[in-house]
Amino acid sequence: MAPRQETSLENQIMCGIVGLVSAGNDNILPLLVKCLKRLEYRGYDSAGFAFIDSDSGRIIVVKDRGKIDEVVARYGIVERYAARVGIAHTRWATHGPPSKVNAHPHVDCGGTIAIVHNGIINNYLELRRKLAEKGHKFRSDTDTEVIAHLLEDLLDENSDMLGAIRKAMNILRGSYAVVVLSTRDPSRLYFMKRVSPLIVGVAPSVSIVASDIPSIIEITRRVLVLHDGEYGFIEPGRVYVEHDGRPIDASQRFRTITWSVSDIEKAGYPHYMLKEIMEQPRALYETYLGVLSDPALHKAVDLIDEARTVFVTGAGTSFHAGLAFQYYMYRYAGRPVLTFIASEFYVYSNAAGQDDVLIAISQSGETIDTLTALRSFKQRGARVIAVSNVVESAIPRESDVKLYTRAGPEIGVAATKTYLTQVLVLQALVSQMTGDGFIKLLGDAHRVTARSLAKFQVFIDRLARKLYRKEHIYVLGRGLGAFMAYEGALKIKEVSYIHAEAYPAGESKHGPIALVEPGFPVIFIGTPPSELVEKIAANIEEMSARGAVTILIGTQQYRDVDADYKIILDVDDDILAPYAIMPLLQLLAYRLAVLRGYDPDKPRNLAKTVTVE
Ligand code: AGP
Repeated sequence: MAPRQETSLENQIMCGIVGLVSAGNDNILPLLVKCLKRLEYRGYDSAGFAFIDSDSGRIIVVKDRGKIDEVVARYGIVERYAARVGIAHTRWATHGPPSKVNAHPHVDCGGTIAIVHNGIINNYLELRRKLAEKGHKFRSDTDTEVIAHLLEDLLDENSDMLGAIRKAMNILRGSYAVVVLSTRDPSRLYFMKRVSPLIVGVAPSVSIVASDIPSIIEITRRVLVLHDGEYGFIEPGRVYVEHDGRPIDASQRFRTITWSVSDIEKAGYPHYMLKEIMEQPRALYETYLGVLSDPALHKAVDLIDEARTVFVTGAGTSFHAGLAFQYYMYRYAGRPVLTFIASEFYVYSNAAGQDDVLIAISQSGETIDTLTALRSFKQRGARVIAVSNVVESAIPRESDVKLYTRAGPEIGVAATKTYLTQVLVLQALVSQMTGDGFIKLLGDAHRVTARSLAKFQVFIDRLARKLYRKEHIYVLGRGLGAFMAYEGALKIKEVSYIHAEAYPAGESKHGPIALVEPGFPVIFIGTPPSELVEKIAANIEEMSARGAVTILIGTQQYRDVDADYKIILDVDDDILAPYAIMPLLQLLAYRLAVLRGYDPDKPRNLAKTVTVE
């Protein structure tokens, strides 16, 4: 197999793309900037714009490394230019330093076509070689630029852009959401969609195509989620969609977004992450109401009841929600469950068959690892239940049963409210399966979270001040406590960059305690059943004997257990324990990040959704 080319191919974790076209003579650039900023959580180390200058009729490209506001100010985009049609891009590159030449948009040789792209073109090297042989001159070494030259090349062979795009869809391989600006059609923007998300909004005098909903609701609440293989164009007040050369009537697929702009805004909080931690009571209550009345819950139970093996998968925090589900399935349904990390699917899918079911958990519904795992299981005949926060996103779309959290948009890169609402939906599933009615308990989840945050917010702030200079933290628990410890450690790691590691507390003696020296912080998560209490107490003793700083966050059963710092929550069951404990771990991670001078909404090297492998 040809060695993988090491180039500065910028293997984007994820980017935000947007295109706007307006019928009026008003300058759309201020609105284009605003819509792009709504996608900044998707990547923010370089930004770029391309638009048809109203005076010259030429395409002007302005792009550079830096955050959106920095690039817009540096080039006076809003003050110096006016346009009625334009595209824009914000990105986070993971290979090689972000650079101006590799920032999007990219143009063809003639400068009459500009494109923005989210995803990866797998066959770009082969295409680049062929196009270069035909005389195309490349300015960057990104995969994206190949798309602009390919369209230019195909356009030569036929007169219209739609025909060129139709052909390009059959040539490009990989994942892509592309928006195309062409001087030939100054009142249109073309688009192509395969794997990477792309959504259209149409208002009477302006249309928009963008990576995600927050960008669109600036213009309209009626959105059309494009499906894989679809392409076409938007004009002011109109969208045209094709698939494999056939026009698609997508008019029935438009749906209304209920999220308000204020949902998207920070609502006065300094960071989205804090807003989303604090709005968990509302997210939990709405999710509870939603799942209670959702017929899909019964369909999911039927699939699980009929299944030979129940597989569960997700990435990151969603994987941790899967572990919590596994705990409840063993403990309440007495049902073995196999939860695996989505990118490891190839180990498990071979054993899957038509009698099995896969529960695919993904708040964004776009994580490529989870989508790939889902497709692998479906190919083997397994049925799929999706748990997601975004209606009509790829993973629920390709699933047999769709269970939705109702957390509202989660903009902060760190998953918080989507995690707890995932746990609630999964608990409701177990409760529905076992018929033992603990679903009624879930009606109290939002109050438990509200009380926990109100009562211990100050304590967490003080604890953060004790810990924020530490470089290492252990987060330990047993049973459900261990699964919550994994999620707590991920939160701390991903926003404060402290090396937080979680493992089952009983494992300390089998190696990890070797790292513990005086002052080493160890957080213990104390959860039912009562037989765990003395074991956790012994683990705390073990750590204290080595000079560790011990912190206990536990349910009522732990009130007599000693630790250097202790929070005892007013819950004593393992159903409501996550709603009391997890918000405190999320808040601790948030405070640690802020005290260490980091922006918890935009953690380095991370993006909200990983849509490329
Ligand atoms: C969690 O805080 C991280 N943002 C990340 O691990 C995330 O949970 C993971 O990428 C899965 O995302 P998904 O739920 O959208 O599939």
